[in-house]
Amino acid sequence: MTRTFVMVKPDGVRRGLVGEVIGRLEKKGLRLAGLKLVVISPELAARHYAEHRDKPFYDELIRFITSGPSVPMVFAGREAVVVARSLIGATDPVHALPGTLRGDLGLAITENLVHGSDSQESAEREIALYFAPEEIV
Ligand code: RTP
Ligand code: MG
Repeated sequence: MTRTFVMVKPDGVRRGLVGEVIGRLEKKGLRLAGLKLVVISPELAARHYAEHRDKPFYDELIRFITSGPSVPMVFAGREAVVVARSLIGATDPVHALPGTLRGDLGLAITENLVHGSDSQESAEREIALYFAPEEIV
């Protein structure tokens, strides 16, 4: 069993797609192990997306991710990182395959609905950014 960090971004919350995201991950067999609704502070956003600090889209990304409530979550299951990423789909919804969350439900690149950790190390780092150990069951 492994765990991963998944987050419905502000566009997904605004569009009422929280249930859809959770439902797809649950139906695949991943177990919801942590969940909250938060407006991400600029400080937390900067820590989460530190790897993108020098990218041209960074300022837009921080503005977007702090623009309203997000739903950070922990999912557990076999190969949870890889499974969640494959259900989420490619970064750019134009290239995300039908059947994936971004492929079916999005079109914009910055506002791409959902985040999923890209490795086990990222997952543990991101879980620790958003959750205290006792908030994960
Ligand atoms: P995420 O971290 O959100 O799960 O997405 P990802 O791994 O598929 O993509 P990543 O390269 O980590 O990029 C993080 C987020 O930055 C925004 N982005 N905008 N305008 C652009 O060219 C651009 N590229 C990336 C997206 O919100 C992406 O999810
Ligand atoms: Mg990423």
